[in-house]
Amino acid sequence: MSMSTTNQMLEALGKPAFSSHGVSLYHVDAMEAMACLPENVFDLAITSPPYNIGKEYETTMPLPNYIDWSENWINQAYRLCKPFGALWLNLGYTEVPERGRAVPIAYLLWDRIPYFLLQEVVWNYGAGVATKRIFSPRNEKFLWLVKSPDNYTFNLDDVRDPNTKYPNQKKNGKIRVNPLGKNPTDVWQFPKVTTGQGLTGRRASPERTKHPAQFPLSVIDRIVKACSNPGEVVFDPFIGSGTTAEAAIGNGRNAVGFEIKSEYIDIAVERLERSIRNVEQGRKQGRLL
Ligand SMILES: C[S@@+](CC[C@H](N)C(=O)[O-])C[C@H]1O[C@@H](n2cnc3c(N)ncnc32)[C@H](O)[C@@H]1O
Repeated sequence: MSMSTTNQMLEALGKPAFSSHGVSLYHVDAMEAMACLPENVFDLAITSPPYNIGKEYETTMPLPNYIDWSENWINQAYRLCKPFGALWLNLGYTEVPERGRAVPIAYLLWDRIPYFLLQEVVWNYGAGVATKRIFSPRNEKFLWLVKSPDNYTFNLDDVRDPNTKYPNQKKNGKIRVNPLGKNPTDVWQFPKVTTGQGLTGRRASPERTKHPAQFPLSVIDRIVKACSNPGEVVFDPFIGSGTTAEAAIGNGRNAVGFEIKSEYIDIAVERLERSIRNVEQGRKQGRLL
């Protein structure tokens, strides 16, 4: 992380719970911590906040309070985001009495947040709960929100999908398909991080930690590659098990994460230490070859 960002953070928040290889994790309340930071410090934020649905890591609030709280932290994230930066926001669903059982939280925040909505990306996964009176849910959404609709980072070539159907298709004698692959589209298929419990007998994902709502690394990896550049700062105000920081480490980006629960900080620290060891080992092997 650039010295100036590190110093700004240290000055504002004190010593992090973890700091190594350009990654800093703070055991803090994101709302309080964000309010202490100066503006324009992050290039990209990726996060999944609590959805106010009674998970073990959240204190449930009346819906209007939750929407106010969400508006507040998103406004703070906007202030901390650099002018050409972005927020990738994964928001779930909530019940709105008399209106809907599973209303996308984004609908309730739509006219209350300052970002420009560039695109909604659908993450589709294969396994999940089976329902009888509605279609079985198999997707989550990510909102790609930017500060400037004309100036934002999009490294398409770094995330092209090499699985093209007709790689040798030609037009006027020239190969039509980009040799790096096709645009991966706005529907992404990646498996969920599974627990390995339950009736299906499926096995736990290798990346699985004890955190109950872990992002798949593959999804975050694509966002980090596409929407930030090496050496930039990626921020996750609700970092949980540390997935955003792990993707940053793997791609030579810096990261700052906030987490309110100490047991999740411990999970994230263990995970990031392992990830740093792997990256270092890979580098050493690379030098030997
Ligand atoms: C949906 S989970 C994020 C999981 C994460 N994306 C991952 O891959 O592990 C939301 C996280 O926000 C944390 N959290 C809840 N309220 C918070 C707050 N006010 N400040 C910081 N973290 C908070 C929870 O403890 C939880 O770990």
